[in-house]
Amino acid sequence: MADVQKLRLGVNIDHVATVRNARGGAYPDPLRAARIAQEAGADGITAHLREDRRHISDADIEALMDVLTVPLNFEMAATDEMQKIALHHKPRAVCIVPEKREERTTEGGLEVAREENRLAHFIAPLREAGSRVSIFIAAEQRQIEAAHRIGAEVIELHTGAYCDAHAEGRTDEAEAELGRLRDMATFAHGLGLEVHAGHGLSYETVVPVAAFPEVSELNIGHFLVGEAIFLGLAPAIHEMRRLMDAARAPR
Ligand code: PXP
Repeated sequence: MADVQKLRLGVNIDHVATVRNARGGAYPDPLRAARIAQEAGADGITAHLREDRRHISDADIEALMDVLTVPLNFEMAATDEMQKIALHHKPRAVCIVPEKREERTTEGGLEVAREENRLAHFIAPLREAGSRVSIFIAAEQRQIEAAHRIGAEVIELHTGAYCDAHAEGRTDEAEAELGRLRDMATFAHGLGLEVHAGHGLSYETVVPVAAFPEVSELNIGHFLVGEAIFLGLAPAIHEMRRLMDAARAPR
């Protein structure tokens, strides 16, 4: 079993920008959310610059790079346009995600195994520029092995299937998904990969995932932005942090 290490919380601010963009103005400001998240103990800020710019904009990324004192985890599709932007900003972390215009959110993990050669060439310059490259994948051994072969240092396991099964009361499936996530976190860690996880996590679903000793970072956005409507962003982050720490504490 892996040594129990500190579990980092990356706060994804995309959906602050979604609300801003609903009216096309300047409010609510994702940069202000990032500052509050940072002060509330976020270990990093995550932002996804999508091809259609439906939430985060180029100007947001520029401002985040200027203002943040914690690392920016820049989520992007494996396109030439995004590679150029990442090479310009050189964020501390880059997470390569699949992207389809018609999807509501990032629905599945990246198909690394089928695109090994292209992705290996795609991430090499990002690594040379000093960014830690993470690949967002389903909890499948062949994807993890492929991510390892192309030279990724980090994988992020997609927790969406587990969270959806949990939310819809499909308890057996949620347990099975959780088991897969646990096994694949152990497998990836054994290969020397840093293991992150995220997508769809809430106060309830975060607890078992935070307990996996091999997972060193969780990226959480939509639920926190939703809770911020009722509690405020800082208290929502404090509660998430508390649950993560409690789940991680040695028993
Ligand atoms: N990690 C990755 C790679 C993602 O693409 C997303 C969603 O943008 C998240 C984490 C956060 O997911 P959620 O907003 O559902 O918490």
